[in-house]
Amino acid sequence: MKAADMQDAAAIVTGGASGLGNASARALAAAGFKVAIFDVNGEAGAAKAAEIGGTFHQVDITSEESVLAGFEAARAVNGQERILVHCAQVSKNAKSIRFDKATGGYKRFPTEDFAVATYGILVASYRIASIAALGMASAEPLEDGERGCIVLTSSAAAQDGQVGQIAYGSAKSGVNGLVLPMARDLMDIGIRVNAIMPGIFSTPPMLGVRDKVPEIFANLEKSVPFPKRLGKPDEFASLVMELVRNGYFNGQVIRLDGAIRMPPR
Ligand SMILES: NC(=O)c1ccc[n+]([C@@H]2O[C@H](COP(=O)([O-])OP(=O)(O)OC[C@H]3O[C@@H](n4cnc5c(N)ncnc54)[C@H](O)[C@@H]3O)[C@@H](O)[C@H]2O)c1
Repeated sequence: MKAADMQDAAAIVTGGASGLGNASARALAAAGFKVAIFDVNGEAGAAKAAEIGGTFHQVDITSEESVLAGFEAARAVNGQERILVHCAQVSKNAKSIRFDKATGGYKRFPTEDFAVATYGILVASYRIASIAALGMASAEPLEDGERGCIVLTSSAAAQDGQVGQIAYGSAKSGVNGLVLPMARDLMDIGIRVNAIMPGIFSTPPMLGVRDKVPEIFANLEKSVPFPKRLGKPDEFASLVMELVRNGYFNGQVIRLDGAIRMPPR
């Protein structure tokens, strides 16, 4: 998408109240987009939207009704979005089988707990992306007939799922699997679909680890081949912006990880 087409065009960012989503929302606003933040956290979402002159919509990505209402409200204010960046996720994690000290036997990670990540990551990604695409399909085409661009957030865990990441890792690899068929479904309409697999980024969940267990955080930094630090949210947002700008990027899942390959644990 050309810089001129970004001026006053609409963009939606889920999970935009924090971390990678917030950095993406800021970068999109700086490029001229009218940004709508979707987040379940009302207080932070409203504050972060105000900082960038955007709008905030309290949305729970696990609810079809809530997401549909969010899209309707955002479109009523900003018009049909050209860009959708989906960062929010909900998951629950544990080892498939673990030793239970209380019973002295082994315990299984319940199927319904596994399904929390399936719904909160894979199904939610389809929900958000397909609702965005349905709206984008009716937008006026830009250069090359492009109508819109969707960026999903996967994880390095989609390829290097660690001990305890059975639900998260498999749901994120589902997101990777969604990208190419969706890009192909949307090719005749002119909507591009890509995803980013971040390595380890310094967002509030990770900064919480630094504050509680500094030695674990230091080891995480050391585990990155180069540069020896966690990724910066602005580096994630920079790749989001490249995916938005570069009209030839389509059907791609990209690692952004300082060359880290995560070990089993
Ligand atoms: N930070 C990392 O190291 C890392 C690594 C790999 C992948 N990721 C992925 O990047 C994405 C963003 O992670 P982050 O580190 O920026 O997290 P974060 O916790 O900083 O931000 C997530 C945001 O999503 C919102 N959210 C949570 N549940 C929601 C719901 N049901 N509906 C709407 N919003 C909801 C939260 O309120 C929060 O504002 C996630 O998909 C995560 O899996 C992060």
